[in-house]
Amino acid sequence: TLSLVTTPGELRAALANTGTVGLVPTMGYLHEGHARLIERARAQNDTVVVSVFVNPRQFRPREDLSRYPRDLKRDLRVAGAAGADVLFHPGVEVMYPPGYATTVSVSGVSGPLEGASRPGHFDGVATVVLKLLGLVGPNRAYFGEKDWQQLAVVRRMVRDLNVPVEIVGVPTVREESGLALSSRNSYLTPGQRERATVLSRALRAVQAAAAGGERDTARLRQAGLDVLAREPEVTLDYLAVVDGDMAERERVENDPMTRVLVAARMFGVRLIDNLPLWPD
Ligand code: PAJ
Repeated sequence: TLSLVTTPGELRAALANTGTVGLVPTMGYLHEGHARLIERARAQNDTVVVSVFVNPRQFRPREDLSRYPRDLKRDLRVAGAAGADVLFHPGVEVMYPPGYATTVSVSGVSGPLEGASRPGHFDGVATVVLKLLGLVGPNRAYFGEKDWQQLAVVRRMVRDLNVPVEIVGVPTVREESGLALSSRNSYLTPGQRERATVLSRALRAVQAAAAGGERDTARLRQAGLDVLAREPEVTLDYLAVVDGDMAERERVENDPMTRVLVAARMFGVRLIDNLPLWPD
C-alpha cells in the first residue's frame, strides 16, 4: 500500500531498512507516461518513491506555474496502481524555506534549445533534482526521454557532482495519434490535441529523410519544417537535429544519440517532443 509523506523526517522513516530504492521525480497530474517510469522503477528496486512537487524555480515569470494542473487524489491512485510504495509531496516551504540560497547550474548541455527559450529553467530543474536525490538517496532515478535535454542535464550533473545514483532513461509514451503524453495536454481540447500531432509528424518526417540517406542537417531540418508549415496554429520555438551534447553539426552521424527535437506554442500551450534520428 502507498503511503503519503510530506516532510524529510517522514520520508526518512518510510525508507528505513527498505533495500534498494528507485525514485521517480514528477510534478504530478500523473499520466500513463509517468506510470511507465514507476513500473520500470518497480521492476528494478525493492522500494519505489514517487515525488510530486510543482517546482516554482523551474518556471519563468510569465509561464504556467499558477495554472499548472494538480490532482493529488488522482496522483495517489495512479502511483499506487503503478506500484509505488511512497509518494513524497513536500510543500514549497519544505523545499525552499526562508533563507534558501543555493542554485545548481549545469553549463554546456543546458545552453541551447530549452535553455535558450527558457533561461534559468534548467537551473531550477537541476537544483530540485539534486535536492530530491539528497532527500531520498535512491539507488536509481527514472526520467522520461520526452524531456530529452532534461535527461542530458541530469546525467551531466550526476556525473559532475559524483552523485551515487544510476540515471535510467525511459522511452516516451504516446497516444495512438502519435501525440506525446504530457500533463500540459490537459490544457487542450480533443480537437486541439489532434492538431498537435503535427509535432510528432514533423519529427517522423525528419526520421524518414534520414532513413532515405539525407545527412545534411539543414535539409533534414527542412523536411520537418515543411510539415509544420502546413499547420497555421504552430508558433515554432525551435526544430533542431543535435548530437548527445545538444550540439548542432552541419552533417549528422548515424549515432544512437543523434536526436531531432521540437518545441512550439499551439493554442497558447508550449509543447515539446523529440525522436531519435535512427529508431532501432
Ligand atoms: P514532469 O513533467 O511531471 O515529468 C516527470 C517525468 O516524467 C520526467 O522525467 C518526464 O520526462 C517524464 N515524462 C513526462 N511525459 C512522459 C511521456 N509521455 N513518456 C515518458 N516519460 C514522460 O519533468 C518534470 O516533471 C520536472 O522537470 C522534474 C524532473 C520532476 C523536476 O521538477
